[in-house]
Amino acid sequence: MMESIFPALYILAAAGFILAIKWMSSPATARRGVIVGEIGMLLAVVGTLLRHEVVTYEWILIAFFIGSAIGVPVAYYMPMTAVPQRTAFSHACGALASALIGTAEYFRHMPHGVVMTALVLETLLGFLTCTASLMAFGKLQEVLPTRPITYPGQNIVNLGIFGLAVAIGVALILSPERTWLFPIFTVLSLVFGVLLIIPIGGADMPTVIALLNSYAGLSASAMGFVLDNKLLIVAGALDGSSGFILAVIMCRAMNRSFSNVLFGAFGTIQASAKEALERPVRSASPEEAAEILEAARSVVIIPGYGMAVAQAQHKLRELHDVLTKRGVEVCFAIHPVAGRMPGHMNVLLAEADVPYDRLVEMDEINPEFPRTDVALVIGANDVVNPAARLDKNSPIAGMPILNAYEAHTVMVIKRSMNPGFAGIDNDLYYMDKTLMLFGDAKSFVSGIVKELNAAVPVAS
Ligand code: TAP
Repeated sequence: MMESIFPALYILAAAGFILAIKWMSSPATARRGVIVGEIGMLLAVVGTLLRHEVVTYEWILIAFFIGSAIGVPVAYYMPMTAVPQRTAFSHACGALASALIGTAEYFRHMPHGVVMTALVLETLLGFLTCTASLMAFGKLQEVLPTRPITYPGQNIVNLGIFGLAVAIGVALILSPERTWLFPIFTVLSLVFGVLLIIPIGGADMPTVIALLNSYAGLSASAMGFVLDNKLLIVAGALDGSSGFILAVIMCRAMNRSFSNVLFGAFGTIQASAKEALERPVRSASPEEAAEILEAARSVVIIPGYGMAVAQAQHKLRELHDVLTKRGVEVCFAIHPVAGRMPGHMNVLLAEADVPYDRLVEMDEINPEFPRTDVALVIGANDVVNPAARLDKNSPIAGMPILNAYEAHTVMVIKRSMNPGFAGIDNDLYYMDKTLMLFGDAKSFVSGIVKELNAAVPVAS
């Protein structure tokens, strides 16, 4: 009886995972996607626990309680800005689990042929993803130096270690009895994971995490072959391919190649950005900004990483409401890589109940900027930097940007003239039509809202 139930549970779980990915691709259906994915995972776990190979539940329950004691508080208390490092930590745990299961299977059954090939792939990807993800976590959490660390011959050393691990893996596939090779294979895979991340700047970690997500998925899929578990094969393949597609989308939105992300040592502050701190700019107070916004007919708000840091989304919602009440047409321009993770701005604005139809994607909003009265940039920098379009030698040359510089007036809220993620200066700040609104995003927007509310109230 039980044996006939679990394939049905597995099919339902797989369908749940596929629907979850489909629905999570739009903010309007994302919640439904998350719930269906959770139900799918519950069915997968229940289906697995019903299998006849499970002889006792004691150890499983102990692991369940330890995992929940760590996972639940992390999910509740981790702030939105720390989601990238939380994701990196989850990948490290998942990849370690996969690699340890592979190790246990090797020493228990010593498989041969195709299964041994899958086991080598599983453990190689599992161990290297584990240490690489821990390094990514350390850089994002700033417990490790975030700048790229490079030295001469680095790529050759890295390739050499990876090549050696692969060669030993092949030797193990050809004769699995050589058990003494396995610990060397394990250490090389772990070391390669660390070396892979050292030359990558902390700011590039979100893209790297998407890539590591895909490695962890492939490792889980290979584990499915080792354990003869079809659901693991499906779920791992979905994880692997979606992580890879996400990494490709992020690279495209930054107009950078995989090799540039992995070996480009991007994110070090350019000398020109330091010199630029001396250039004169025009600045304004919350009162002046409120007057300009009130007189406008159309306002496009451009949020970026600084909005996330300041947690200014709720104040922005208030600004949207007060301006809309005054007859101003307000919308939010969303750049695909604004912030530090995919969908960063969408999630924060949704949290503040900004209506979805007010969020406009880059390709749709760009033609509107020449007709826009005010572009209000909040904690965004690179995604509005005209250098991407106008300066062929810029590190962000070719990156698609939001054309804020085409609006009649530009106002930029940020705390200083410091550069953003790419470490370069932004000519937008020095244009005649631009006003710099210096301050923390949340308190500055709060000041503007206060001014607007204090002005003559609108008849409702
Ligand atoms: P950035 O270029 O990083 O600029 C953020 C700006 O926010 C900074 O200039 C900073 O200036 C300001 N800021 C920080 N804290 C603030 C606060 N409390 N109040 C007000 N302003 C604050 O951000 P962006 O325009 O969103 O661009 C994102 C960058 O990240 C892109 O280069 C993109 O390629 C990269 N990236 C994104 C992703 C994804 S998937 N989103 C992944 C990898 C890389 P001050 O210090 O002067 O305040």
